[in-house]
This record gives sequence, structure tokens and C-alpha cells, in this order.
Amino acid sequence: MAQTENLVHPVQIGRVALAGNLALAPMHRRTGLAFRLMARRFGAALTHTEMATPEELLRWERHRGGNRRKGGSLLASSPEDRPLGVQILPHRGAPLAEAAAMVAERGAGDLLDLNFACPSKRVAGEGCGAVYLRDPEAAVRFVETAARASPLPVTIKVRYGYTDSEEDRHLAPFLTSLTAIPGGRPWPR
Ligand SMILES: Cc1cc2nc3c(=O)[nH]c(=O)nc-3n(C[C@H](O)[C@H](O)[C@H](O)COP(=O)(O)O)c2cc1C
Repeated sequence: MAQTENLVHPVQIGRVALAGNLALAPMHRRTGLAFRLMARRFGAALTHTEMATPEELLRWERHRGGNRRKGGSLLASSPEDRPLGVQILPHRGAPLAEAAAMVAERGAGDLLDLNFACPSKRVAGEGCGAVYLRDPEAAVRFVETAARASPLPVTIKVRYGYTDSEEDRHLAPFLTSLTAIPGGRPWPR
């Protein structure tokens, strides 16, 4: 029993204090407000919005509370739904700085999470997600852009490799590149 108790502990991510180290990962078309509130009742100390490109987030700002298909409910939240990570799916040429600044200015979330993990053909095929495991320089630039544009802590979501094959393991060199970012550190253990 004592061992189990030690597994759950508070975590500090920048200025965001989490009561525990259990988090709900972002899930496209799943982790809306109702789902997140349920996850919190079951012990999640942090939840995330579903992945959205910078363009989609800025569209949300224009259509807040409006047409769901136009992103009206993308960042819908409530006071009990905190702390909240807003997941961003960056890609080359996207207005990442504007989207990161908007999330902070609107108080729409407490931290920004950049998705360098999604390997799906639709996402990676459009130059998003796990493709940046193979391009750590671009990933570092995205992290720096988001961190400069917004006062919120920036986290990243990654996977072992772009594919599941043994030859395609990018995580170690990728994380080594990211340690060059001032203040960068792994998820506290
Ligand atoms: C339906 C579905 C949607 C997902 N959408 C996202 C997403 O928007 N962003 C993301 O980073 N990962 C996404 N993922 C990956 C999950 O966050 C998680 O990393 C993955 O399911 C592995 O965790 P598990 O082993 O607990 O299932 C999604 C997974 C599923 C099943």
C-alpha cells in the first residue's frame, strides 16, 4: 500500500502546480470538456484539449461559442477544468506564435503542449506530428517560438520513433537536441 502511495506525487511544470502526476493525454474528437471533467473525477490532475493546428486555434477564437464544425467548442472550458494543457499541432509556415499568444491572452489554458507524436498518415502526411522526430532542428524552433510568444510553460509529446521499427528510433537524439533549449528538462520523476 505504502508503495502505491509513493507512485502518485505532486508535479511542478514551470509555474503550473499539479496535485498529482496522472494526466489525461490529448485525444482527437474525444477529450472535450465533458470527457475531461470525468477524467478529473477519476484522478487526472492535468487534462489536455485535442490536437489542433495553429490555424484551427485561431479559427476557434473567431467562432467562439458558435458553429462546432468551425471550431466553436474547441477550447470550451470551465473553472473546474483546470489546470488544462492546450495541445498544438505545429507545422512549417503555421501562425504558431499568434496561436500560442492567443491561448495565453484568452486564458484558454495553463500550458501549451506541442504534438511531435502523431504518426497517422493524415497528420504526418500534412507535415505535422511525428515527422518532426526526424527533424529536431525544426522542433526546437517550434518550442522556442511558442515559449517566446506566450508566458505559459511549453511541454512536448513524443514517441519512440516515427514508425515502430527498431531502425526508426529517433527519441534519444531528438531529446538531446531539445536539451539545448534553456530551461528544458524531462518530465519530473
Ligand atoms: C482516438 C485517439 C485520438 C488521439 N488523439 C491524439 C491527439 O489529439 N494528440 C496526441 O498527442 N495524441 C493523440 N492520441 C494518442 C494518445 O494521446 C496516447 O498517446 C495513445 O493512445 C497511447 O496511450 P495508451 O497506450 O494509454 O493508449 C490519440 C489516441 C487515440 C486512441
